[in-house]
Amino acid sequence: MVQIFLDTASLAEIEEFARWGIADGVTTNQKIFLSEGGVDFKQRVLDICGLVNGPISVETTRTTVPELIAEGKEYASWHGNIVVKVAMYGDGRGLQVVNQLAKAGIKTNMTVMMTYNQLMLAAKAGATYVSLFYNRSKEAGQDPVQIIRDYAAASKEQNIPARIIVGSIRTPEDVATAMAAGAHVMTIPSKVLRQMPFSKRSEETIAEFDKAWQEFLAAQKSKPV
Ligand code: E4P
Repeated sequence: MVQIFLDTASLAEIEEFARWGIADGVTTNQKIFLSEGGVDFKQRVLDICGLVNGPISVETTRTTVPELIAEGKEYASWHGNIVVKVAMYGDGRGLQVVNQLAKAGIKTNMTVMMTYNQLMLAAKAGATYVSLFYNRSKEAGQDPVQIIRDYAAASKEQNIPARIIVGSIRTPEDVATAMAAGAHVMTIPSKVLRQMPFSKRSEETIAEFDKAWQEFLAAQKSKPV
């Protein structure tokens, strides 16, 4: 079954969706932390780990391979559920980092990927998760739906262990399309997640049934005993 990761670092939002029973993990990035204001980074990551018992992606921010490896190792030492997010740099640097971290037994999420080639390279380098940025990939002229289909099929046929996470989601329709295409994991912003239980027709149907129930109760009351 598809897994849902929360694309947020807000504790209130994480609590809200954890209560729904649909949160399998959490993904964060530098922009997500910026929107949280001046929070203590390590403490917030640990608080998130305390709320959701699943993979929690924390992104590396340094520049060189040794720095990125050291940063990834540091994050992984904070909590057993932390997955180190490493960007797919165009010079292959990120692949080296993912490969070294994988050799050290650290789970990784190779991120900011737009193409099928990037996903495959990340999987070969030993990434635990490979993240496709759905809308940004579309903006770059790619067909993310076909990429998801192809990756999901290849992962089955070729026994590729790396799970595809689909991120950069803007609408509930994006979620439905990506899930139907075979995404293993969806990472979904709170704004989109909140819209997903809603259908105008469901609301109308609930109101229709409530009205019928009130009429039924009124008919019972008016029956002679
Ligand atoms: C997830 O891993 C990504 O960080 C996130 O989905 C990116 O989304 P954006 O395109 O809205 O920045």
